[in-house]
Amino acid sequence: MSTMHNPSILLVTQSETDLAFLSKVCSKNDWSIASVADATLAMHQLSHHDFTVVIIDSDLGDINGLQLLEWIITQVVRPEVVLLSQASSTEVVVKAIKHGAFDYLEKPLVSVNKVTHLIRQAIEKYKLIHPSYENGENFPGYQGIVGTSPKMRAVFDLIRSVSASDTNVLITGESGTGKELVAKAIHQTSLRKDKPFVVINCAAMPETLLESELFGYIRGAFTGAATDKEGLFEIAHEGCVFLDEIADIPPSMQVKLLRVIQEGEVRRIGDTLSKNIDVRIMAATNKNLASEISNGGFREDLFYRLNVIAINLPSLKDRSDDIPILTQSLLQKYTKQLGKPGVKIAFDALSALQNYSWPGNVRELENVIERAIVLSDGDTITAKNLPSKILSAIFYNSVKQEPDLAELNYKEAKKRALNIFNRSYIIGILEKTGWNITAASEQAGMDRSNFKKIIKKYSVEMKKE
Ligand SMILES: Nc1ncnc2c1ncn2[C@@H]1O[C@H](COP(=O)(O)OP(=O)(O)OP(=O)(O)O)[C@@H](O)[C@H]1O
Ligand SMILES: [Mg+2]
Repeated sequence: MSTMHNPSILLVTQSETDLAFLSKVCSKNDWSIASVADATLAMHQLSHHDFTVVIIDSDLGDINGLQLLEWIITQVVRPEVVLLSQASSTEVVVKAIKHGAFDYLEKPLVSVNKVTHLIRQAIEKYKLIHPSYENGENFPGYQGIVGTSPKMRAVFDLIRSVSASDTNVLITGESGTGKELVAKAIHQTSLRKDKPFVVINCAAMPETLLESELFGYIRGAFTGAATDKEGLFEIAHEGCVFLDEIADIPPSMQVKLLRVIQEGEVRRIGDTLSKNIDVRIMAATNKNLASEISNGGFREDLFYRLNVIAINLPSLKDRSDDIPILTQSLLQKYTKQLGKPGVKIAFDALSALQNYSWPGNVRELENVIERAIVLSDGDTITAKNLPSKILSAIFYNSVKQEPDLAELNYKEAKKRALNIFNRSYIIGILEKTGWNITAASEQAGMDRSNFKKIIKKYSVEMKKE
């Protein structure tokens, strides 16, 4: 994110006088200043560079200052906004402040001191809000689990409340929602934090191996058992065992596991004696255990032992508010790892991420970000660096940003509406056919070259995978 050595100001105005005035203020204070004449250029600048403060003239012509303000507010790491307005336009000022602007400056600008003071305050506020981003750590969330949505806050509250106790916890959620991360967070904030946290994936192992891993064996217990081996339960003594993919544990092992939980003891394979062990058990699954129980695949008594506290992790699409902040944290992680520091994401690409449904949840987002960083040239991830299935989401966003058709005359409105229809249709059909032009043109009942012309006319960007 922005390094704060030198605050940078973006001025959005068409007034030469204001530009001259503010340039003077900035150079006196050693703040860098960039200026653009309209909102579209401003969005471009904001997608590619970090700014501390944006000063927006309320009187911009095309998209008005308020709309630009609304757009800025949706960004994660966003500059503070100061509005430049006529003394007469109190209504606009009130709206702007309501929408999250820091403050306003009244035109004409006359007092250098007053203007300097206000911008300085805006810079201070930016620093207050973003200190953690400055050194690149500590994204909002809990124990490295990033998120600020109400659903994740509820998860954090649950984690906090179970940490102190020794109760078993069952963590459910779709694949890639962060189940293992949650188990680790619980362990790390519990009294057992200095004891082992042992992870075992129940789906990854054949039954006999799973048994010897969990319980260990004594020398000579079976062919190949040349020495005694400690099981994972013993290793985890006084700590925690995380049983991942618990739904896949075979029935015979379910019985043995139940005994461990009920008796608090384990017996190595081949041994006649049991050992007392003290472990906390956390288990995770992306399956519906209730239906596994009803079809006989999972023991109900074991379920109740594991499910003392249930934590269900929301799917990413149900907390899309968290996508920008997750994206920023993953950018941070992977730009460092891939040796491409400072790569940012353009706004349209971020919108596409927010509109996509994420069946693979955070893990899928992680893969997409990593791949996009690799593919990006220059210092910005653009929509082109995203997989095509995600790209089509951009369209929906562009519709949202279309002005109200009723504000246009008939001819203009019709043109826009047709444009929207054509883009939607083309992207939809290309999506269906995996962006294969031949297949798509067939489905559309057009010949290939005409179809290509339409693609070009409605400027649908073709994806190269
Ligand atoms: N809220 C989050 N903040 C940051 N990173 C996250 C978050 N949730 C998941 N991740 C990351 O996404 C990846 C998948 O998380 P994790 O392995 O915990 O998910 P899982 O639910 O166990 O998935 P699976 O069912 O596929 O095993 C990990 O790299 C993890 O660090
Ligand atoms: Mg997992």
